[in-house]
Amino acid sequence: MKFFIDTANIEEIKEAKSLGMVDGVTTNPSLIAREKKSFEAVVKEILKVIDGPVSLEVMSLDVDGMFKEGKKLMKLGDQVVIKVPMTMDGLKATRRFAAEGIPVNQTLIFSPLQALMAAKAGAAYASPFVGRLDDIAHDGMALVEQILTIYDQYGYDTEVIVASVRHPGHVLEAAMMGADIATIPFKVIQQLAQHPLTDRGVDTFLADWKKVPKK
Ligand code: G3P
Repeated sequence: MKFFIDTANIEEIKEAKSLGMVDGVTTNPSLIAREKKSFEAVVKEILKVIDGPVSLEVMSLDVDGMFKEGKKLMKLGDQVVIKVPMTMDGLKATRRFAAEGIPVNQTLIFSPLQALMAAKAGAAYASPFVGRLDDIAHDGMALVEQILTIYDQYGYDTEVIVASVRHPGHVLEAAMMGADIATIPFKVIQQLAQHPLTDRGVDTFLADWKKVPKK
């Protein structure tokens, strides 16, 4: 399973990259806003350190606006993927981008039929938001399972990005289900590496090592 990092923070991206845990990056307007720098400045830094796909979201809501914005974003780097919301206009934009071979990440997906439409429109990636569904007492990972079944059934090559990941359990389930990608916040990447028994084991080995005679 590919690991994307769900952040616009360059330090987090660099740190996760040094662990070998970054196959790509996803950003959104909220993540960009947290950086307190211009969009251009944030994106320039990210594109300098990442070779894999970097999703950048369009802010227009109409198809012509999305297309114009997306074409401009594409000029920033070969690894740019246009993030387009799952709306009627978004689907039209995806279709236009796909016709030109431009990869789209269809975002804000909350139902399997939205994901089916994204694939039919030619999206390279579909992003179901599992955490936000869990937040309203739905089962986010059940949605991922439905999408994977549908895509498999009809041979769509749209890759499923498990997004809005909140904890390691989401990543585990994504991997067990065979999701193509999980886009993971940095804090959760750190949690994946940690286990209290590992820490306790390291402490015990260190303590016991001190008991070994030096000569
Ligand atoms: O990047 C999209 C998605 O992962 C956002 O997650 O935590 O804001 O629901 P969240």
